[in-house]
Amino acid sequence: MHIDVVTIFPEFFTAPLSVSILARAQQEGLLVVEAHNLRDFTDDKHHVVDDYPYGGGPGMVMKAPPFIDAVRHLQERAPEGTPVIFFTPQGQPLTQTKVQQLSGRPHLILLCGHYEGVDERVRQAVVTEEISLGDYVLTGGEPAAIVLIDAVARLLPGVLGNDNSLESESFSRGLLEHPHYTRPAAVGAMTVPEVLLSGHHEQIRRWRRQQSLRRTMQRRPDLLSAAQLTEEDQQLLAEINQQLNQHTPATTKVVTDA
Ligand SMILES: C[S@@+](CC[C@H](N)C(=O)[O-])C[C@H]1O[C@@H](n2cnc3c(N)ncnc32)[C@H](O)[C@@H]1O
Repeated sequence: MHIDVVTIFPEFFTAPLSVSILARAQQEGLLVVEAHNLRDFTDDKHHVVDDYPYGGGPGMVMKAPPFIDAVRHLQERAPEGTPVIFFTPQGQPLTQTKVQQLSGRPHLILLCGHYEGVDERVRQAVVTEEISLGDYVLTGGEPAAIVLIDAVARLLPGVLGNDNSLESESFSRGLLEHPHYTRPAAVGAMTVPEVLLSGHHEQIRRWRRQQSLRRTMQRRPDLLSAAQLTEEDQQLLAEINQQLNQHTPATTKVVTDA
């Protein structure tokens, strides 16, 4: 996969791309990331990329022509229909489903805004998708871009050592993942659930599935109601509800200051 990023801070990407899985993916030729300086697409002596907002108000707005010229230049060497993604808190929230879709594309162009934002005509002229990292405001689109690159890259075939681990992980099948344990078997009084030491693969699978359902029910009920559940899942959920009911006291003890 080839990812072009348009940014006023290309150096932002140096460290995250030079370590761990992202570095290895690039060394193995599975991922190419190029950070392009937006200022290279200006035509004035001082490489100005921002200006005062029409209509007044605080802050500066990023100019449209450098972004439009950068994208048109990058599109010349990208396959037709390559997504041009602009990061903005006004975009669609990034989800694992979106990440999966994007990981199937051979090429992406990512645009990072700054200051008060970007001239609206960039959206109109070249942007095909607007993505938000969440309901909060960042100083620039670069953290959003690196998050997207990381999430997409790890789904590319061959990037993770064990592609099986993708199957059960959070969101990949609409649920949160089960808890993990490794040696030592006891950390103080906290021991590993017995079933994981049993070597009984079917029981372990069932336990993990139930934990996954339980976690999703308790932490993200919104995901559970949207998930496609099997008959076994319904049975496991019924067991969870039974366990929870058994542990819920019949009356709630109210503690008051005496
Ligand atoms: C300070 S923000 C501008 C926010 C803008 N004034 C608004 O209220 O929508 C500067 C840039 O950071 C990026 N950005 C900020 N928050 C983001 C988020 N939650 N998701 C994706 N990009 C974000 C965008 O590229 C944005 O143009």
